[in-house]
Amino acid sequence: MNNIKACIFDLDGVIVDTAVYHYKAWKRLANSLGFDFTEHQNEQLKGVSRVRSLELILGWGGVTKTAAEQEILATQKNTWYMEMVNQMKPDEILPGAKEFVEICRKAGIKIALGSASKNSMTILNKIGITNLFDAVIDGNKVSKAKPDPEVFLTGAKALSVEPEECVVFEDAIAGVEAAKAGGMKVVGIGQPGVLDADLVISGLDKMTLDKLFKI
Ligand code: BG6
Ligand code: MG
Repeated sequence: MNNIKACIFDLDGVIVDTAVYHYKAWKRLANSLGFDFTEHQNEQLKGVSRVRSLELILGWGGVTKTAAEQEILATQKNTWYMEMVNQMKPDEILPGAKEFVEICRKAGIKIALGSASKNSMTILNKIGITNLFDAVIDGNKVSKAKPDPEVFLTGAKALSVEPEECVVFEDAIAGVEAAKAGGMKVVGIGQPGVLDADLVISGLDKMTLDKLFKI
């Protein structure tokens, strides 16, 4: 038995699968600039901030833009992305995610969101689970991106718990690194060979309180 008092969940790829919407919006932007953008490249943007993602994409396309132009491009991508996000419905919550959060809450475990996305609140509202979170720490509340632990440490503070009392759920390599750097336990959502976490599962439908307390 460990002393877990809180769970901090990443959003994209853990609670919802928004990667496909990010992919479509970035691809549309890349195509408008005259080059292509692959699903393999999109994989490398998991957990990466919007600004940094754009820098990487422009680099892959061999295109140089000024800071002012980059701001316009990032805003354009976000507009296209939000057109899709605004259509999201509660049935897009990934299998087992809502159920596991509810199980944790019933067990007295505090719940926070720890996401790089500046659109986190809109997404939580669209899928109807905002009220399950005691704290929401998103891209608007932190200045240092994952793998810096700021987002998770801010989450622990908001919940009034110590880092070692938290378990983070993450699908991105940078997110797993961030949790570890913050001194937290981490459950990877994805493939064991890819994520160097304390436990790796394919999705929250495979998570139980028993596994949580054995980490
Ligand atoms: C992360 C996603 O959760 O949020 C990234 O994995 C995304 O792909 C990042 O770039 C920032 O999201 P947003 O919604 O602020 O553009
Ligand atoms: Mg993620």
